Amino acid sequence: MTRYFATCARGLEPVLAAELANLRAFDIAPGRGGVAFSGPLELVYRANLYLRTAVRVLRPVFEGVVRNPDELYDAVRTIDWDEHLTPDHTIAVDCNVKNSGLTHSQYAARRVKDGICDQFRDKYGRRPSVDTEFPGMGLNLHVSHDHAVLSLDSSWDSLHKRGYRPISTRAPLNEALAAGLLLQVGYDGTRPLWDPMCGSGTFAIEAAMIALHRPPGLTRRWFAFYGWMDFDKGHWASLREDARRRMRTTLEQPIGGSDVRDDAIYFAHENAKLAGLGHLLRFEKCDLRQSRPPTATLGQLICNPPYGERIGEEAELDELYATIGDVTANQWAGWDLAIFTVNNPHTRKVRRPVRSNHPFFNGSLNCKLWQYRVD
Ligand SMILES: C[S@@+](CC[C@H](N)C(=O)[O-])C[C@H]1O[C@@H](n2cnc3c(N)ncnc32)[C@H](O)[C@@H]1O
Repeated sequence: MTRYFATCARGLEPVLAAELANLRAFDIAPGRGGVAFSGPLELVYRANLYLRTAVRVLRPVFEGVVRNPDELYDAVRTIDWDEHLTPDHTIAVDCNVKNSGLTHSQYAARRVKDGICDQFRDKYGRRPSVDTEFPGMGLNLHVSHDHAVLSLDSSWDSLHKRGYRPISTRAPLNEALAAGLLLQVGYDGTRPLWDPMCGSGTFAIEAAMIALHRPPGLTRRWFAFYGWMDFDKGHWASLREDARRRMRTTLEQPIGGSDVRDDAIYFAHENAKLAGLGHLLRFEKCDLRQSRPPTATLGQLICNPPYGERIGEEAELDELYATIGDVTANQWAGWDLAIFTVNNPHTRKVRRPVRSNHPFFNGSLNCKLWQYRVD
């Protein structure tokens, strides 16, 4: 049994903890920006394959106080790297330092690399080389208030990169965050789902993956644990096979979205096609005011409206949020409404009974998920 830490956007920790409970992880402990858990090695494979809200899955190998680059180097040298690496491995170190005597992330990363390489050179006269794109062993150093955690990173590239959004459009929602918000509102594919301001279609695509029981990691080409010395390729193949067998091919209820912009609908279609979901999702160009339920069955409305980056659009935004309230009351009665947005005063204009509001961070932006009753 090994202890792991899955990182996530702040606010998503309880959702990630629930996902880990579904994967039968042990000793689940939500923290700040992630969740600690225990399990056998194969749980790391399943975590990378199935977790919708995690950013990366880490396996800590050192935890302690380091006040400067030399103490960091010494700490790294206390680890027996033979347990994890060979001199033929390529390595890379990702580093995140805050409120610490270590001030430069890049220099801290270099000291970690030096500590590992010097240990190998002293023992074997050879040392691992660096590959920052596809390292045979990715390492993650997190230092806060002189408390350092050095981990083997089983994911390396962030798990939110599902591979269906190669073109960056205007203000797209992070895929892992979109999935987390859907799980937060209890979406499980048994109700219709519509995003009337769908942009590049992230909510609809993530909703379809949930509805089809499709693991987000299934189509990803590479995970850092492929380079681990104990990587069990056969078991990994059987986990993927098992996931494929359990996937559904059709949606129980319609999923889709609409947007006032032509380019948004174009990107939503393209992304859905890339995700292999083009034939299942509906996207339409239309203003929020003209949006109508896709079916008579009541379902979930979810959207991420503009929140105002331009000076002078305050009045416009007040009107837009008021329109969301009016249109949903008139056309979408009985549906559940969820609005995800930066914490802003415009949400007051929605004027529907608030069922709950939860804080979330979208990068450094302080956001909220508002859930309303639409009678
Ligand atoms: C922040 S973006 C949504 C991003 C989206 N969640 C994604 O992941 O790509 C807001 C979207 O609202 C759309 N929008 C703004 N006003 C609208 C209106 N009146 N009717 C429909 N869509 C509107 C914009 O075109 C934009 O695509």
